[in-house]
Amino acid sequence: CTFCFCCAAAESNKYEAAKEEILSQTVCTRCEVSQWDSDEPVSRADLLKGIQGAHGLLCLLSDKIDAEVLEAAGPNLKVISTLSVGFDHLAIDEIKKRGIRVGYTPDVLTDATAELTVALLLATARRLPEGVEEVKNGGWSSWKPLWLCGYGLSGSTVGVIGLGRIGMAIAQRLMPFGVKRLLYSGRTAKPHAAEVNGEFVPLDTLVSESDFIVVSCSLTPETQGMCDKSFFSKMKPTAVFINTSRGAVVNQEHLYEALSSGQIAAAGLDVTTPEPLPTNHQLLTLKNCVVLPHIGSATYSTRGVMSALAVQNLLGGLQGTDMPSELTL
Ligand code: NDP
Ligand code: DGY
Repeated sequence: CTFCFCCAAAESNKYEAAKEEILSQTVCTRCEVSQWDSDEPVSRADLLKGIQGAHGLLCLLSDKIDAEVLEAAGPNLKVISTLSVGFDHLAIDEIKKRGIRVGYTPDVLTDATAELTVALLLATARRLPEGVEEVKNGGWSSWKPLWLCGYGLSGSTVGVIGLGRIGMAIAQRLMPFGVKRLLYSGRTAKPHAAEVNGEFVPLDTLVSESDFIVVSCSLTPETQGMCDKSFFSKMKPTAVFINTSRGAVVNQEHLYEALSSGQIAAAGLDVTTPEPLPTNHQLLTLKNCVVLPHIGSATYSTRGVMSALAVQNLLGGLQGTDMPSELTL
């Protein structure tokens, strides 16, 4: 594109002006790009080798960017741009210490992730995967009064853990289903919660009073392992647990016990530890656990916009100018 622009401008005798503009506004002509040309994650060895001397890095949430990677990169590294809003895979302290800037992709994936969360909640609560399976395996013998009954949102209490961008978008989508009370927990009360009549409550209150619990907080040392034995023991036996934040917020052994013993009704997870979840994992043996392969933001348009934003962040960081979405370190 840059080349074409030059040619077109040259024809209209504005070549020098166009060239100046390109050189001041884009670094494409001056960048050497080394791309991992596969959908599979780059191996650690290739990452450590490929990053040597780089000025910028565009990474995915599956790339753990820690002190070892930063050391391998060396002092040239000015910017890290991640194709995600979550940044728990980045060693922020180490990055900050080295004066490296970070770009990420908030907002542009909020709608897609909220939509997927609602889909997962409904699929889990109304047992859609089980129903589909029964149709296929001949288990559907006739209409039966209590067969495949689940739980509905109408008149329910929903608890959102982390009423941030995505948590709020989830709440906005759930309220029209006739939700009676919307509880939320986090570090601080949110003025925007008024829009969904959200009640800021302690985590214990949220856990014990909700019919549906949706986890949409970020993964931090404080939230790691937050959903554990004690958490699940406080839930109603009819309650449904949904997690679209990060797998490590949940203690999966404790979740398995809660689901298999009937302590809670069902769980829907878009995120797990590890990812991918091994196919022989005990959670996958349970009918009341719906597991998706981390597809919260996976719509064509969202991934396209995320990619464009990640590139703009990278270019801004390389040029030392504003980045459209820079993480405040
Ligand atoms: P935001 O920063 O807007 O929201 C994060 C929320 O987490 C904030 O409301 C914050 O509350 C809350 N939080 C932080 N600490 C705690 C805590 N101790 N207890 C409860 N809540 C807490 O981020 P987004 O909404 O944009 O994204 C949230 C997360 O969703 C991402 O970090 C990512 O991990 C995940 N995600 C998953 C996707 C998927 O594909 N499944 C897609 C996109 C994102 P407070 O302000 O009070 O601290
Ligand atoms: C994120 O952005 O953090 C998601 O997990 C993937 O879109």
